[in-house]
Amino acid sequence: MNPILVALDVASADRAVALADALRGAVGGFKIGKQLFTAAGPAMVRELTSRGDRVFLDLKFHDIPNTVAGAVQSAVSTGAWMVNVHASGGSAMMKAAAESARKTADQLGQARPLVIAVTVLTSMDDQALREVGVGRTMIDQVVALSKLTKASGLDGVVASPKEVTAIRAACGPDFQIVTPGIRPADQEGKDDQARTLTPAEAIAAGSTYLVIGRPITGAPVPREAAERIAASL
Ligand code: C5P
Repeated sequence: MNPILVALDVASADRAVALADALRGAVGGFKIGKQLFTAAGPAMVRELTSRGDRVFLDLKFHDIPNTVAGAVQSAVSTGAWMVNVHASGGSAMMKAAAESARKTADQLGQARPLVIAVTVLTSMDDQALREVGVGRTMIDQVVALSKLTKASGLDGVVASPKEVTAIRAACGPDFQIVTPGIRPADQEGKDDQARTLTPAEAIAAGSTYLVIGRPITGAPVPREAAERIAASL
């Protein structure tokens, strides 16, 4: 399948639907995050899933297991294809998320969504980790939380391009690794992304899916930009 997931980081449903209509068939799916979800809600997710789109609902749940299970239940009912939680919520929380996804999908007679975890926010550095009481280095913490994610029965993690190789080595070939921070080789600026890989580099490093926003959504003709990236893989 096409590994490109387009980040619909826009403020309104109209803009998101227009982008999805322009890109459908040229990409593997769409990511709906906190901005669009808070503005347009679950109806926005259903609008896309009812058209057959794969939607990665990027709400990064982090709460007590019972609450996360309920949130995942609601997410599954929107038809989301992939949902996520914070691995730092712990194994009981992650197991509750995975179990809720399986149970709800069974009850609704639909395919179980992939459940993945954020290990460490890529906006954090070693100093920020120490502030919250983590003494390990960044890469050690990312790999440890990836292993905990796998042991808790989840399908994979979101990871920065820099971390993919270590996670792939630690968690094996079947683990899903979703990577933002992608910039095409022919793009001049990197926007606010500090560490980037090209789409082909990220796939070579072991990424399963690439989350790409502005290089596609900000292009003069988004569909052409998506097709160029897909052709580079
Ligand atoms: O526009 P751009 O390609 O930078 O968009 C990347 C998307 O991936 C955005 O939605 C951003 O919030 C998200 N993301 C990221 N880095 C992370 C996690 C998520 O860029 N570590």
